Order: sequence, then structure tokens, then C-alpha cells
Amino acid sequence: MNILGIETSCDETSAAVVNEQSILANIIATQSIHQKYGGVVPEYASRAHIIKLAPIVQEALHTAGMDFRDLDGLAVTFGPGLAGSLLAGLCFCKGLALSLNIPWIGINHIEGHIVAVHANQQNIDYPAICLVASGGHTILVYIKEPLHYRILGRTIDDAAGEAFDKVAKILGLPYPGGPSVEKFAQTGNEAAIRFPRALLENDNYNFSFSGLKTAVLYYVESLHKQGIEAPMADICASFQKAVIDVLAQKSFNAVKEYRCKSLILAGGVVRNTPLRENFRELARHSQVHFYAPAPDLCTDNAAMIARAGYMRLIQNQRSDFMLDVVPNLSFTDSPN
Ligand code: KG4
Ligand code: ZN
Repeated sequence: MNILGIETSCDETSAAVVNEQSILANIIATQSIHQKYGGVVPEYASRAHIIKLAPIVQEALHTAGMDFRDLDGLAVTFGPGLAGSLLAGLCFCKGLALSLNIPWIGINHIEGHIVAVHANQQNIDYPAICLVASGGHTILVYIKEPLHYRILGRTIDDAAGEAFDKVAKILGLPYPGGPSVEKFAQTGNEAAIRFPRALLENDNYNFSFSGLKTAVLYYVESLHKQGIEAPMADICASFQKAVIDVLAQKSFNAVKEYRCKSLILAGGVVRNTPLRENFRELARHSQVHFYAPAPDLCTDNAAMIARAGYMRLIQNQRSDFMLDVVPNLSFTDSPN
């Protein structure tokens, strides 16, 4: 079965083709127009999707060595995300489904991130804990079996990626902040500044990153007032370590409490190399299987949406033409 996936929830226009075992094509076009604004401008994002979507889908089919007639199903993100951006993808998918007369399904973007790991690693030992850390979400999920979720905790304010983006802005680094902060952190000392680790003492799986971001802001402002130049590398390394410590401690606590065999990472933030290395090392110590998607499958891409679509379509799940976009679609416990 060949499934075409479409992802346009934010500022990445992406189309992918997957079959049972592998990714046959995964084309991702990043919109550079947002860089000069220091964040995504929703109207520009939707307009860029409208222009890029058709050629990107054609390119995905071409890379997969296929024709529209070779497709057996379609999958598209219908939320959460920017309304105009989601509409561009959903309308395109409905048009294709209508003309090709094949089944299609709307996918929750968060589920896409979670199943990204299945694109390059099919045999995961469940039950598992999955940490989803992206620009819009930070969620800890207990996965009894594939597509069966129980939410253990989530951020009560900023998402981990949002904290990276805001700290980058405070330091005058380019958007998106994660890669810039990681780069500066490489030459910094992670023990140089002791930034706060929120909610670690609390007996729950929620996260909070807004205090950490404010601590960085106050630190930079106080140096500025004293006429001292901010030590960028040390700030980035210390901030990054504070984020990793919180994410890791909560994740491994959950693995222990729920007696999971595996820990799965998901979302744009887990592209971060020191984060992956910290988790890998901790997993080795606790004798837990550790899985992280390849870097290009961590940030937004259509292969993860196509994979989620594949997994649901083979269970005969379908969407119908009444489906609308849901910009604030939440990710909740699976039924029963
Ligand atoms: O999953 P994603 O592509 O989009 C959302 O669904 O939000 O995640 C984007 C987020 C951004 O906040 C970006 O700064 C962060 O992932 N990110 C990183 C890295 N690469 C991307 N954060 C830390 N380190 C990175 N290398
Ligand atoms: Zn995402």
C-alpha cells in the first residue's frame, strides 16, 4: 500500500510517500521568508503553502518513481497548527481524494511526531514512554501499544522549543532558535550558570519553561546594566542543559513508574545532539531501549503524517469530507 502524506501545519510544506516498510520520498520545503520577522507570519505561511504544495507533491511522486494512480491512500494534518496553513493542506488532500477516489484520513500532528520513529525503526518494544518536545508542545505520553496513548503530563506554559526560540531572541540569535542555541552551546560551559529546573521537585509529569526563559532574560539584562558583555556560549550551554535535565528526569521517572521497556523521543527539539546523547546515556544506565527518529524526521515533515495515515488506514479508519481543520486540536487519551 502506497500512502501520500501532506503536512502544512506551520511553515514547512512537505509531501511524502511511504509503503509498509519504508519512506519512498520525503520532500520538505522550508519557508525562509519568516526568518527576517524572527517568527512565523501566518498569512505568509499559508500563501507559500498554496504556491509550493502542487510542485512538492509532484516531486515526492517523482522521487518515489510513481504516478498518482499508484497511490492507495492519503493522509493530511488537520490540526493543531495555523488555520490558513492547515486549510491549504486539507483542501489539497480533499481535492486529490475526490479525483482519485481513494481513502484518506486526517492526522493529529502530534501523533505524526510520535510515529516518526516507526519510519526508521519498526520493531519497538512496547509499552513505551514517549517525550514529544516541539515548538508548540511538550507532552509525556504512555504508549501501551502503537496508536494507544495515555497523557501523563504536559507543559503548563511555554513548550521546550518555544523556550529555545525565545532565549535565542533574547540573545539576538536567528529563528528558529534551537539550532542557533545548540551551535553556540558547543563552545560553552554548561555548568557556568545555574539556571532553574522547574517542577523537578513536584511529584507529577508536567513541565514549565517560562521561568527558565525569564531567568535567562534577567541574567542578560543584569549583565547589560553593569556594562558586561553576555557570555553567549556559556548562557546557551547552561540554558540547554537546564532544559535537558528537566526533560530527562521526568521522562526516566515515568519509564520507571510505568515499568516501560522503551523510551521514544519525538518533535523538533529532539534534533538537539546533546539532548539525544544525554538520553542515550541515561537509557543505557537504566537498561531501557532508546529510540529517536533520524534528525530530518524530528522536525515537521510529511513522512511522519504518511506513516500515521498508513497505520490508521490499514485499520480501516477513514475521514470524510465534513472534516474541517482544528487549529487548537488537543492530543488526548485514546478511548478505553
Ligand atoms: O516539531 P517542530 O518542527 O514544529 C512544531 O511542531 O512545533 O519543532 C520546531 C521546534 C522549534 O522551536 C525549534 O527551535 C526546535 O524545534 N528545534 C530545536 C533544534 N532544532 C529545532 N531545539 C533544540 N535544538 C535543536 N537542534
Ligand atoms: Zn511539529
